[in-house]
Amino acid sequence: MSTEFIRVENLCKAYISPAERLDVLRGCSFTIFSGDVVCLLGVSGSGKTTLLNLLSGLDSPTSGEIYYDGVPLHSLTLDQIYDFRLKNIGFIFQDFHLLEHFTALENVMSPLLLQGHSESFSRNLSLDLLSQVGLSDKVDSYPDQLSSGQKQRVAIARSLAKVPFPRLLIADEPTGTLDSRTGDSIMELILGLSVEHNLTTIFTTHELFVAKLASRIFLLRGGKVTSLLPSDLNNESFLSSLV
Ligand SMILES: Nc1ncnc2c1ncn2[C@@H]1O[C@H](COP(=O)(O)OP(=O)(O)O)[C@@H](O)[C@H]1O
Ligand SMILES: [Mg+2]
Repeated sequence: MSTEFIRVENLCKAYISPAERLDVLRGCSFTIFSGDVVCLLGVSGSGKTTLLNLLSGLDSPTSGEIYYDGVPLHSLTLDQIYDFRLKNIGFIFQDFHLLEHFTALENVMSPLLLQGHSESFSRNLSLDLLSQVGLSDKVDSYPDQLSSGQKQRVAIARSLAKVPFPRLLIADEPTGTLDSRTGDSIMELILGLSVEHNLTTIFTTHELFVAKLASRIFLLRGGKVTSLLPSDLNNESFLSSLV
């Protein structure tokens, strides 16, 4: 039986400035179970990144609640949220977010060292992760010596650098800046690793065929999240209007 991992209740987020108030999320409610691979669809500006930032505790909601294993995120202190994120959530971004002055190996090691693991443990695990993403021959390369696809592979290895693995993998348009062939191989790698290690994963994409690889598809529209039905996936024109 699936175990409830994340529960979101009536989540609202408004960006408020003296000039205006922008209500981006207007009452999102959903549950994610351990091992779910969720694709979050929505047109540009619909609030996907906003929702992912709230889920990871990088930003706080205007109202509503996010529960991890039944524990409300807002009951934690900022230090506890930082610690939870560091130990449990792996991130993959569109623009990689690698540290330019660190080698591939050092980039992957850095979250492990921050988590308090020893230098030798961190090094060995990072070498293993870099081999899982096919970069054993690039461990000493700096980001500017790598292609975009290779940089994203380093970022994928870094996102997995938790012990034993991240409980949640968040990939926000991970193929957004890659050509389509490289993007395909990157998505294949992320989803392959997710399934292999039974990681709960949430990703956003503009590629419909990639969306169909998810076990669940959420649609963010009008500030609310709905779950798409399997029959929706056969309606190409409907799907095309969602990305
Ligand atoms: N920090 C912010 N301050 C004000 N408005 C923001 C901020 N972040 C995002 N927005 C606005 O919120 C809306 C949703 O943005 P975003 O979550 O990035 O959408 P998506 O990832 O789906 O493209 C957009 O209109 C965007 O301009
Ligand atoms: Mg976004």
